[in-house]
Amino acid sequence: MTIDVDPDWWKTLFDEVYLMTDARSIGDEVITRQEIDIFTSLVPMQPHDRILDLCGGQGRHALELCRRGFRDCTVLDYSQSLIDIGKREAVDQCRSVQFVQGDARHTDLPPETLDHVLILGNSLGYITEPDADLQILQESMRLLKPHGWLLLDVTDGAAACTTLAPLAWHEIGDDVVVCRQREVTEGRICAREMVLSKAQGMIRDRTYCIRLYSAEDLTALVVRAGFGDIKRYSDVSALNRAVDVGCMNQRLVVSARKS
Ligand SMILES: C[S@@+](CC[C@H](N)C(=O)[O-])C[C@H]1O[C@@H](n2cnc3c(N)ncnc32)[C@H](O)[C@@H]1O
Repeated sequence: MTIDVDPDWWKTLFDEVYLMTDARSIGDEVITRQEIDIFTSLVPMQPHDRILDLCGGQGRHALELCRRGFRDCTVLDYSQSLIDIGKREAVDQCRSVQFVQGDARHTDLPPETLDHVLILGNSLGYITEPDADLQILQESMRLLKPHGWLLLDVTDGAAACTTLAPLAWHEIGDDVVVCRQREVTEGRICAREMVLSKAQGMIRDRTYCIRLYSAEDLTALVVRAGFGDIKRYSDVSALNRAVDVGCMNQRLVVSARKS
């Protein structure tokens, strides 16, 4: 069976249900802390640096950076509901983090103001138009100061092709079951996700499709966007490999620099 996907799926999938279904990866503070340990060891970040967590969702990485004394972090994400959730957390924990709703392809943020653009947690490859990810990287280039850093953290496409199970399910508490069917074809992973409540029935039945990058393809894209000093890191996941968290299991991290 081929999984049919609405090309605009990414505009509406990221909400409270996503925070629940993906809580084992993006809702685990220990994992987020370990990820920030890894990322801050790969690129030189200073507490006074201006940092953009692009496609940053509810801002888990920016909030963790703020807790570590990074005072100038902004989160930009398309999802208004994640932005609102992040803003509420920031009020409790880290008021200096700014949250902005927008499209990463054209952010309206001022040029050459940032020391770092972080695109983390597999946030590329969602938009069907062939040059969308290139546009996101070109926008990152526009926003960075000269010598600023780009850090990308995506699914390792080569590893996903060989290891991702076609079917997976997990329970959340006593009530909710998440079932995933996946097809990996032509450099993409397409999935159907059903979220069921034992008490109330179907919560969600949605499909999505994400472009997968090999290390070579991602490097080529970063070069096309004009970056240099490119370094690739594989096998740098903070996640426990025994647990199937889909695209988040095997990661490919690339750092690059504006000249
Ligand atoms: C898998 S989530 C990861 C969020 C966050 N980086 C993390 O690691 O928790 C992907 C995020 O990318 C955002 N996103 C995808 N395409 C986007 C775009 N063109 N502009 C802004 N946000 C986008 C989604 O709204 C979603 O919050």
